Amino acid sequence: MSKKKFSHQILLSKKRKYIYPLLDQGLSAKDLNEGIKVLKSGRITIGKKTQDFENKFNKFLGSKYALMVNSGSSANLLAAFASCNPMRKNKFKTGDEAIIQSLCWPTSLWPLVQCGLKIKFVDINPLTLNVNADDLIKNISKKTKVILVINVLGLSTDIKKIRDFCSKKNIILIEDNCESLGAKFNKKLLGTFGDFGTFSFFYSHQITSGEGGMIICKEKKDYEILKSLRSHGWSRDRNTATKYPHLDPRYIFINSGFNLRPTDIQAAIGLSQFKKLKKFMKIRINNRNKIIKTLKMHKNWSNQFSFVDVPKKVSPSYMVFPIFLNKKFRNKKTNFINYIESKGLETRPIISGSFVKQPSTKLFKLNPRKKKYPGADQVQELGFVIGLHTKNISNKKLKFLSETLLSIDSL
Ligand SMILES: Cc1ncc(COP(=O)(O)O)c(C=O)c1O
Repeated sequence: MSKKKFSHQILLSKKRKYIYPLLDQGLSAKDLNEGIKVLKSGRITIGKKTQDFENKFNKFLGSKYALMVNSGSSANLLAAFASCNPMRKNKFKTGDEAIIQSLCWPTSLWPLVQCGLKIKFVDINPLTLNVNADDLIKNISKKTKVILVINVLGLSTDIKKIRDFCSKKNIILIEDNCESLGAKFNKKLLGTFGDFGTFSFFYSHQITSGEGGMIICKEKKDYEILKSLRSHGWSRDRNTATKYPHLDPRYIFINSGFNLRPTDIQAAIGLSQFKKLKKFMKIRINNRNKIIKTLKMHKNWSNQFSFVDVPKKVSPSYMVFPIFLNKKFRNKKTNFINYIESKGLETRPIISGSFVKQPSTKLFKLNPRKKKYPGADQVQELGFVIGLHTKNISNKKLKFLSETLLSIDSL
């Protein structure tokens, strides 16, 4: 393989037809048909399907209050804005401190910044991709009023330890579970530990509604705040109408607000997918095991790659498959990614890599002391993800994956 062919940068994919894409066609004809039925009914805005999905989501998670939104990012936005809302008793103020891990998604971070919180990053453990609970707790100061923990790629830290600490110190815990629907810590479903738990149904996630998300909470007051913020600050509650007899009860706005509502089309597709969550989880776990086994049994296997450790007490629920290059291949990573992409194996970085290195964090001066986050750096330097599909992987694809990945030796 001639090195001249490669640039120093990962090449943005041209419209390639991948042999092993990041996503398989996860939506079945039945899922799509559920959406089409809503479309044909003529009532596509938020309605019965959304409520039905919310109820079934609560039942599955054992949560009290679930609210569907148009994305996981919107769920995070609502969690942050509800946490400083004047209607809330325990709320943060502008200038208070929020802790978030350095390996994060932009819209886990930005709602906290948009609400006026001062950001403190903590590093992650590169072996599990997740933050270490003790490290995070060590970083808590008197100024910390919010902690946002991301359960990364179907796994988690000891979220119970963080939950217990937050309860003691009156810190608001936002649990970004956008990448881990169905996973458990200590037999308890992730997303249910935080004051708010957020979920994404974007295309590559455990289930999908195309675009879509959910937010759950424990307190009725929080639910009311979230509901009004989701929809223009509106209240259509009878009791509110009685309180304001001089106002038209159809248009009473009790709070600030956004419009983050989903359509019933998204809810119908999401609900149809949700019924298959457990099946998808099982297939993805099996596919992951098969890929690892095939690689390790290959005649050319010599620890070229390593895989994420499943932390203690965690029952995983995967969406993609993170892989790390052996350190000795560090300098080959760009060539390698460009090569396997050119062969039809689609890849992505692990989340956003170290988010502290993104130009947007410089723009907003979020790391003024230029603190280093070696765990997240290591993930960025050595890690990448490939797809983990919702249908049983064929032997042909297993062969393709192992041969393509193990080509690293000859680059
Ligand atoms: C950790 C995390 N939070 C939030 C989001 C945002 O979800 P969405 O794409 O539905 O807006 C994502 C998206 O992948 C994510 O990985």
